Formats: sequence, C-alpha cells, structure tokens
Amino acid sequence: MKSYKVITPYIEYNFEELSDDEKQLIKEAKESAVNAYAPYSQFLVGCAVLLENGKTVTGNNQENAAYPSGLCAERVAIFYANSKYPNVPVLKLATAVFSKSEFLDEPIPPCGSCRQVLLETELRFKIPIKIILAGKEKIRVIENAKSLLPLNFDNEYLT
Ligand code: THU
Repeated sequence: MKSYKVITPYIEYNFEELSDDEKQLIKEAKESAVNAYAPYSQFLVGCAVLLENGKTVTGNNQENAAYPSGLCAERVAIFYANSKYPNVPVLKLATAVFSKSEFLDEPIPPCGSCRQVLLETELRFKIPIKIILAGKEKIRVIENAKSLLPLNFDNEYLT
C-alpha cells in the first residue's frame, strides 16, 4: 500500500493588502451579488472576472424553481466571459456573498462544478487563474484553479 496526500495552498489577506485591481474586482463582485436571482436560497453570490484585455465581466447566481436548472455565479461569469471574449485569457476571479442583509464574514469557496469549469478555462488559456474569495475582512487567495481541484479529470484522459 502507498498513501498520498494532496495539499491546497492558499493565502489570507486583509482587504487593504490587495492590489488596486483586486480591490476593484471585489467591489464589482459585491455589486453583482446584490443583483443575483436567489429567491430559494437567499444566498446571493457575485463574481467578477478580470481578463487579459483589461475588461471585467461579472455574473451572479441564477436560481430556478426546478433547482438543478439554476447556475452558480462563477459559471455565469466565466461562461459569459468566454462567450464574449473567446480568445482572451481569464487572469483573476473574485467572489463575494450577500446573505441576510449583509456580506458574509467568511470567504465562500466555489462548488465542485465551478472548480471543474475554472480548471477547463485555466487549461484552455494555459495561464493560471487567481481565485480571490472575499469575506467582509478576510480575503482568501488561491493562486490557480488546479490547486482547488486535485486529482482532477481533464481532457488528457479523453485521448
Ligand atoms: N452558489 C454559487 O453561486 N456559487 C458557489 O460557489 C456556491 C453556491 C449558489 C448556488 C445556489 O444558487 C446558492 O448559491 C446556494 O447554494
């Protein structure tokens, strides 16, 4: 028998320690969160994506009475970015969650399906996507999508 361990490195910052473009990205994620359509969970997620061409694309979660038909904020933002700018790499992604009349203290990690989509985008453009999870004070940063999805499935298995 052999046993293995996978480590996911991340760093926590205070908001003030971030670069200006990252502060701006969080601001846009927050603005997007309050426009989410989340009548069933009341968990309003906002996402902002910074592209290599300097443009920012935002998205928020879109729920549905048929629950699985809804989509997370991250995928709304990434899919929109990739559909509008198909040849432009995604550099950074920020999220923030608004619930019960305030932004959450705790940074919220992306769900498994969003991690898979983030990884696909990272592999597609061959540039790491910096993932910035914004709590009210604490900002958690993961340097690339791959670290968030160890032992992942990707297109290499399809050959
Ligand atoms: N949600 C997101 O938008 N992003 C995440 O990373 C986690 C969950 C949404 C899905 C659903 O609309 C609500 O939050 C509660 O799960």
